[in-house]
Amino acid sequence: MTVNNAIEQDYSKQVPLGHRKKFAQFFTPISVAEIMVKWLLGNENLKTVLEPAFGLGVFSRALLSQKNDIQIKGFEVDNLIFEKAKNEFACTEKMNLLLQDYMFNDWQNKYDGIICNPPYFKFHDYDNKNILKEIEKHLQCNLSGFTNLYTLFLLKSIHQLAHNGRCAYIIPSEFLNSDYGKLVKQYLTKTGTLRHIIVVNFEENVFDDALTTACIVLCANDNKTDRVQFNNIQSINELNTIENLISDYPSVSATSQSYLFSELNPEVKWKSYYQPQNGHKYRNLVPFSTYAKVVRGIATGANDYFTFNLAKAKEHKISEKYLLPCICHCVDVKGNNFSVSDFEELKNNNKNVFLLNAVNAKEENVINYLHKGETADIHKKYLTASRKPWYSLENRPPAPIWVSVFNRTGLRFIRNEANISNLTTFHCIYPQQDIFSDVDIDLLFAYLLTDTARQIFNDNSREYGNGLQKFEPNDLNKGKMLDLGKLSQNSKLKVIELHRKHSMNHEAIENIFVEEFAI
Ligand SMILES: C[S@@+](CC[C@H](N)C(=O)[O-])C[C@H]1O[C@@H](n2cnc3c(N)ncnc32)[C@H](O)[C@@H]1O
Repeated sequence: MTVNNAIEQDYSKQVPLGHRKKFAQFFTPISVAEIMVKWLLGNENLKTVLEPAFGLGVFSRALLSQKNDIQIKGFEVDNLIFEKAKNEFACTEKMNLLLQDYMFNDWQNKYDGIICNPPYFKFHDYDNKNILKEIEKHLQCNLSGFTNLYTLFLLKSIHQLAHNGRCAYIIPSEFLNSDYGKLVKQYLTKTGTLRHIIVVNFEENVFDDALTTACIVLCANDNKTDRVQFNNIQSINELNTIENLISDYPSVSATSQSYLFSELNPEVKWKSYYQPQNGHKYRNLVPFSTYAKVVRGIATGANDYFTFNLAKAKEHKISEKYLLPCICHCVDVKGNNFSVSDFEELKNNNKNVFLLNAVNAKEENVINYLHKGETADIHKKYLTASRKPWYSLENRPPAPIWVSVFNRTGLRFIRNEANISNLTTFHCIYPQQDIFSDVDIDLLFAYLLTDTARQIFNDNSREYGNGLQKFEPNDLNKGKMLDLGKLSQNSKLKVIELHRKHSMNHEAIENIFVEEFAI
């Protein structure tokens, strides 16, 4: 039995990416598979093993090279890969490979070991409703309608662990810090089976081009400990850390952060258990929503149709009266200020900086363009179909500050001096304007540009692969900031003055905040 990734590499060369993506066929590196297998082998009575998302059986190959006296059952839904896998394992009687959907079969059986890299699909790409029903029926628990399939695989597998059974999964870490993950985390703590979460910040992405950071989840259905250990590893060279964790089990390793089940709160982002937090360094933190409200930008539901540059406006003879100035692409904004002349420059360079704003339009050319939209079924799209009329835009006044949604280098805030609208490429930030939390926009913006602000927000971000972070509007609303209302009057004036004079003088501004708020 070969213990490398040659079979997966050949398959990836032969089979088009479109097919592989359709079934979420990204393969586990053999070095990772071998480590996960070690966790299963820690069960001295390992006799029956389940591979719920078989692919080409990398885990079974790694396992059989270590231990012979086991029976393995594998599930796979894609006929093409299934036939190849069957050929590969034709010589061994230990295998029972089934061309069946794991989520709808085999609920009654229990296993000594379950090992898996489950499919990771975007939410719309699978039958989430029926799968959810199936899992809620068997596990008697409630789950969010947005629960991603890969976590449902995990929950089912935990349910199928025999006494002393062990389970090893490699999955995106997204659920640890997202809303739908709360109920999943609740199940993991309630069953008392969770043992290790190892977050893997590999430079190279384990899920190929899927945009996500991986974590290895190790569970055991034994009563050997009531602690969960968290670890972060930064490169594939650190896999030996996991080996040590496994051989030390059930003792707690010195490198881990460990928590009793009773200390783990499913309601919060679990990031705080495995990543050093920045907020602790400061006093007087308040939720960002105290001073500002973050709302997502305008979603049109059909950007190609609704966005315009000057040439397109000329072609369809649409006058500017029906075009709403709007920033459509993040890359069009350089630096931290977006001025009227920046807008004019984009416009004159024929960039898309307008949205069709056709409600109550009487002009024939606009009406013709709307007819064209209907001919192309734009009015039947997911978002447009629910609007009246279908071409109306979401009501979002221009926001004085924008923040970029995805970022490699941390959050990016932009002062929208041009006072134009924005698509979802940015979130809108509206400073609160009631008497209790009125804040000078320049003061708020100067604060947002500091590293301190970004570090504190980072405690609340979602992680994706390749160092990419994402903030949903509520991650920011619930994120923390320094309570600017508590800044001394003198410092407030100094910050505003520095900011207005040389808005790039971040360091001097930073020092004022640190001096007043650092613990
Ligand atoms: C991420 S790949 C992992 C393959 C292999 N175990 C590995 O780690 O290299 C997931 C595999 O699960 C299969 N799959 C997708 N949905 C499934 C389902 N509902 N039941 C069983 N297998 C499924 C896919 O065709 C794919 O081969």
